[in-house]
Parts: sequence; structure tokens; C-alpha cells
Amino acid sequence: MNKDLRFDGRVALVTGAGGGLGREHARLLAARGAKVLVNDLTQAEATVQDIVGAGGAAMANTESVIDGGRIVEAALDAFGRVDIVVNNAGFLRDTAFHNMSDKDWGDIYEVHLLGAFRVTRAAWPHMRTQGYGRVVNTSSAAGIYGNFGQTNYSSMKLALHGFTQALAVEGRSKNVHANTIAPAADSQLTRTVMSEEQLRPMRPEYVSPLAAWLCHEECAETGALFEAGGGWFGKLRWQRSDGARLDAANLTIESVREAWPRIAGFEHAHFPGSMAEGMAPFAEIMNPA
Ligand SMILES: NC(=O)c1ccc[n+]([C@@H]2O[C@H](COP(=O)([O-])OP(=O)(O)OC[C@H]3O[C@@H](n4cnc5c(N)ncnc54)[C@H](O)[C@@H]3O)[C@@H](O)[C@H]2O)c1
Repeated sequence: MNKDLRFDGRVALVTGAGGGLGREHARLLAARGAKVLVNDLTQAEATVQDIVGAGGAAMANTESVIDGGRIVEAALDAFGRVDIVVNNAGFLRDTAFHNMSDKDWGDIYEVHLLGAFRVTRAAWPHMRTQGYGRVVNTSSAAGIYGNFGQTNYSSMKLALHGFTQALAVEGRSKNVHANTIAPAADSQLTRTVMSEEQLRPMRPEYVSPLAAWLCHEECAETGALFEAGGGWFGKLRWQRSDGARLDAANLTIESVREAWPRIAGFEHAHFPGSMAEGMAPFAEIMNPA
């Protein structure tokens, strides 16, 4: 029988943990021994009561993620360190693009992207110094695939994965890992767009074991993007066509059209997994053998 994965001695900060997915992430991490800073504008105390009632350790914090530095300070004041950051807080401001205001865009930018940046930036030096850290950023299928009425949300959610990928590169040598999850779960957020019946099998606690695994010291994964919901889990990666190197000195629009099957077709796909692999075709052109 495998030994339980534990987080004893670790301090986790979960944003937006007053309800939905964040509450379940916080509850699971605490159940496995982490001390948890439960952040949310509302209901943070209820999650803390829940955790403490079950024998765990938690502290509530009600700052906005936009003041991320203060949330990290609260974790340090309460528990003396911060090992794990789960950037989860958020809300929707859906509207068709032709109706989208600066405020719709700005509010979504602030809570999802700026909030994750501020919280993570404040925790980062502590993670680097202690040679251990785990960051989980919360993206969305809307960001990966695009969705009607969500140009603001889709933009910030995919930007969060760009954030993850660069954090992973910077954190690797210090054992600070960053990953992205794109969940699908029943919550107050999804109840605005889906029916209770559809959402019943999608309990938020079915996503949390993935988030917690990505936070564990045994998990070597970094810079990756996972989808999770209803007990299903999968990983995404970039795919690139074989591409076409055309005669640069004689390029025309027509030569691009002629090469289109090789430029846009995926018969001979590649899966670049790093900046170096991604830049390889250009490196070949810049440094001919
Ligand atoms: N539920 C899904 O299917 C789904 C799908 C894709 C992405 N997500 C993402 O998962 C995350 C959690 O969503 P959820 O579905 O559990 O929704 P939820 O509404 O239950 O949880 C989000 C929490 O964030 C809190 N919050 C909002 N603004 C905040 C702020 N400024 N500072 C701190 N806390 C704040 C809210 O009070 C709320 O409790 C969100 O980032 C959401 O975009 C959820």
C-alpha cells in the first residue's frame, strides 16, 4: 500500500478559498498536514472553521488578491513561511466583445492576472531562498480554446499559463515549480452558465487531488498545463506542424499559399517543449552548419 502524500511542515496559501474549488484545495492540503492561509473576500472564516473542526491548521485572510503582498505577509505572520501558492481567486464579467468596456476588461485583468502576479511575486523570494516552492495557477478551457463572451477572461486565463511557463524556467534551479490547471467544476461561478443537473457530477473536490499533487515535493512536473474535472485528468502541450522553409530572397504571397499544407498541416507534427526547441528552426537559419 502506498504511503499517503503529506504536507507536514508546509505552509500553503490558497486564494479565493471561501468557496468552490479554492475551499476544496485548502481543505485537502490541510487534511494532509499543511498549514493553510485561506484567502477570500468573503467566507474565508467558514473554510477555516471547517479545517480547524477537522483537526487541521488554518488562518483566514480577507484581502483582495490585488493586494497580494499583504496576503503573503499574513501567511508569514501566521505560520512563518510560505511553500505553496494556489492562485485560484476570480470571477467573470462576460459580455460579447462588441459590448466589452474597459472596466469589464480591467476587472478581469486585475483579479486573475495582476492578483496572481502580486501574490506570487511576494512569495517567490521566500521560495527561492528556502529551495522549495510550488505554484499552481488556475486557467480555464475558455483561455485554452476561446469562448463567446469571454475575450477578457480568455485572455487573462491563457496569460496565466504564459506566466506559469516563464516561472517554471526561472524557478527550476531553486526547486520552485509552477504549473497550470484548467478545471471544470460545479461552483457559484459555473452555476451562472450551466444547470445544476449538468454540474452535479463535477464536484469541486474532484479537481483538488491534482492541484495538491502538483504542490507536493515528490512531483517533478513544472511548466505544464492540465485539465481536470469530474475525476478526469489530462495534460496539454504545444503541437507544431513540420513547417516549410521557403526561399527567403524570393518570397511571395503565392509561395506561402503553395506551401500551405506543410505550414498548416499536422501530418508531421512536432511538440516543442522549451524555448530552445521552439526556436530551433530560426536557430538553424541564423547559424547555418
Ligand atoms: N468552476 C469551473 O468550472 C472553472 C472553470 C475554469 C476556471 N475556473 C477558475 O477556477 C477558479 C475558482 O473558481 P470557482 O469555480 O471555484 O468559483 P467561485 O466563485 O466558487 O470561487 C472563486 C472565489 O474567488 C473569490 N474572489 C473573487 N475576487 C477575489 C479577490 N479580489 N480576492 C480574493 N478572492 C476573490 C470569490 O469570493 C470566490 O469565493 C477561478 O479562477 C475560475 O476562473 C473555474
